[in-house]
Amino acid sequence: MYKPIYHFTPGKNWMNDPNGVCWYQGFYHLFYQYDPYSDKWGDIHWGHAVSRDCINWEILPVALSPSAERGETHCFSGCVSTDGEMPVLYYTSVGEEKDGRDCRYGAEQWCAFSRDGMRTWEKYEGNPIMTSDIHGSLPVLEWRDPYVWKEEDGWYMVLGGEIEKEGAALLYFSENRLKWTFCRVLLHSTDPEERIFECPNYFSLGDKHVLVVSPNGMPKYWIGTQGEEHRFSPEKSGIIDHSGWDGFYAPNSFCDVYGRRIMIGWLTEKGRGSLEIPGWNGVQSLPRVLSLEQGELYMRPLKEVEMLRDGRACFEDLHIQGAWESTVRGKAVEILLEAERDKIGKGLEIEVFADEAGTEQTVIRYETEEDAVTIDRNRSNRTGVTDKKSLSCRGTHGESRIKFRIFLDYSVLEVFINDREVISTRVYPDGEESDAIRVRAGDALISRLGIFSMKAASITGVEK
Ligand code: FRU
Repeated sequence: MYKPIYHFTPGKNWMNDPNGVCWYQGFYHLFYQYDPYSDKWGDIHWGHAVSRDCINWEILPVALSPSAERGETHCFSGCVSTDGEMPVLYYTSVGEEKDGRDCRYGAEQWCAFSRDGMRTWEKYEGNPIMTSDIHGSLPVLEWRDPYVWKEEDGWYMVLGGEIEKEGAALLYFSENRLKWTFCRVLLHSTDPEERIFECPNYFSLGDKHVLVVSPNGMPKYWIGTQGEEHRFSPEKSGIIDHSGWDGFYAPNSFCDVYGRRIMIGWLTEKGRGSLEIPGWNGVQSLPRVLSLEQGELYMRPLKEVEMLRDGRACFEDLHIQGAWESTVRGKAVEILLEAERDKIGKGLEIEVFADEAGTEQTVIRYETEEDAVTIDRNRSNRTGVTDKKSLSCRGTHGESRIKFRIFLDYSVLEVFINDREVISTRVYPDGEESDAIRVRAGDALISRLGIFSMKAASITGVEK
């Protein structure tokens, strides 16, 4: 009833961050933080799935398990480096506080190799490859989540952490992928709210460099230039997704064989509030493609998502006065809506996961004058026990047209606005019949409206 059908879930148990997302020898690989024994966070392994198209997945056996005999209790987030003789998986190894191996003070960086095209992984016998001593007197805490890439002179890595209550992304270098040296802090936070940087990603995009971090809140990006010795000078910053713990956290990105910078994030379940949904927890977002256009970051759903479109209703120049209801209904739907801002009066509301009486519905609101988008979750669930917090962001960046791409998937709502801003969150409509889709406006001309029911993605290899 709440489980998505075209977003990735492992079917049961706990899942959080995407890890080591990559393209390798004809397959997309998605690893993820996974507890194979429970629907709560704990005993963290790396789950693994492969795909030909980044939409339909086959779940493979767990890739990485904690080595209890070496005091390891969790395999935290990390990445896979495919530029070398064999793939190397880097991750953060965490153990018990009593052994001085807890995640705040005693995290270590470990790696593993695969000799069979990423089917199985063998931990490197020389682990750890790095301990926090590498920083000398610099007090780095909460040190984790390696992200590695190759350049002409060797391999580079960024890791996240906390230095004197400030979030920090730190840079390292290796000539052989195993022996690493610490270069410097790449960027530290100047916002007192950002006391930790988790899951840093650093990559070139267009003619710039981009750093993405998850600062225990909304994931953030900086666009800047890279100078000598990899010094990063940020020029502007923005938000990857206006939800953070309310929906989209710890994204991981990679470049595929077509040169697309693809990002996937963890769609959290904080929105459940006190609603009990036993057996599973956590969803991965749709893959989105990042690009730099006139120096600005654009984010669009991966083109392949469109192959899931099924039944449809499409309109041009649709005049709406009051409420308009779609004949295509459902809980797995894509909605595309475009309108000139000066043709929609004060704005419009898109009601989704709605019942007939409107007692249960989630509203995506656009207010023209404020140029603001809000997701109103006040009536998202009839019992009222789910999270009601509204989420909002700006609508346009001064463009004359507002454009939405909205994805509904049972308990997932991802809203792309003008290809520039995204709000991804979770709602839990409990009425079987809460599948109506309406657009409400005083007097509006909608230039394009497309409503597509979405097919289930194929996710095999696991018990449902
Ligand atoms: C982010 C995070 C990472 C860590 C992992 C543990 O959600 O806290 O920093 O590696 O989750 O599961």
